[in-house]
Amino acid sequence: MTKKIAVLPGDGIGPEIVAEALKVLDCLKSEFGLRIETEQALIGGAAYDAKGTPFPAETLALSKESDSILLGAVGGPKWEPLDYSVRPERGLLGMRSELDLFVNLRPAILYPQLEDASTLKPEVVSGLDIMILRELTGGIYFGQPRGRRINGNGEREGFNTLIYSESEIRRIARIGFQIAQKRSNRLCSVDKANVLECTELWREVVIEVGKEYPDVALSHIYVDNAAMQLVRNPKQFDVMLTDNMFGDILSDCAAMLTGSIGMLPSASLDQNGKGMYEPIHGSAPDITGKGIANPIATILSLAMMLRYSFDDGANAVRVEKAVLSALDSGFRTADIYSAGTRRVGTVEMGDAIVAALRTSRQ
Ligand code: IPM
Ligand code: MG
Repeated sequence: MTKKIAVLPGDGIGPEIVAEALKVLDCLKSEFGLRIETEQALIGGAAYDAKGTPFPAETLALSKESDSILLGAVGGPKWEPLDYSVRPERGLLGMRSELDLFVNLRPAILYPQLEDASTLKPEVVSGLDIMILRELTGGIYFGQPRGRRINGNGEREGFNTLIYSESEIRRIARIGFQIAQKRSNRLCSVDKANVLECTELWREVVIEVGKEYPDVALSHIYVDNAAMQLVRNPKQFDVMLTDNMFGDILSDCAAMLTGSIGMLPSASLDQNGKGMYEPIHGSAPDITGKGIANPIATILSLAMMLRYSFDDGANAVRVEKAVLSALDSGFRTADIYSAGTRRVGTVEMGDAIVAALRTSRQ
């Protein structure tokens, strides 16, 4: 049966990088018989400009009826003066929440070709392969009450709520243990249990869930130490389980270990494996329209979609190998450029990956 993908390019470099992923998808369709149709919709600032809301009802409807969602990026300085309720980011957060995409997988893998592109020493990062599992629909991102007000002293104050119920913690913890079982049977849970009651509960519930998975070695680390250890000795980690905000921060940190944030894909899944796939980077307003953005994170997000939502490991591997092959041939966007390689733009990188994919057929 033909599957359907909702394609949401969004803002900034979003449309540029999504266009390259769609070229890869077209190649899979024409050369490898993949049966997938796509339909585009607006999200983020682009949707706000056209419809007055960053998350139009028709975008949600299309996303619900589709088998999967590919998203570029949202946000930009143009929309920063807007009220939070209509900021581009609300579109992304609304999608995560409405579709209950609570499982966020952010794999940080250093490809051998990019050892020199990382700001860390090659011996610290070579062979790096970490899976960051971020809880995506709870915590301080969604907790109520939230807002701004004038307090009793006539001062402005802002407030947010960090809140997790035990069922929210339990369901993401289970996924964490199951992923650990498929990898090296090690799970490291990140919290701030020395200060925050909410994450003290997080630790307690993770330990309880761990009893169901006696084969997995569970460890715990405070988030400040986790940030330090990620740049000191990242290879000590395998699967890191963490909450919404800590996961946001630590995944950016882990991204730099891999050479560039332009390399990191992500999958956001619901309980049934339906998902939204997006690069972890933002809309990069500083390079928008210059044709230099790295499309690899988006193309690898497409590979994750094939694997996790369509159970199509064969095509996922094809795409990943095509990316590696383009890197082997020396193609580099500006963010991963190093001496002796060939600096190319977004479209040329996409072309090189499609060419490698096509060649892999022979
Ligand atoms: C991410 C992004 C988003 C987040 C923003 C754009 C709302 O930083 O996916 O990591 O904070 O979750
Ligand atoms: Mg982030």
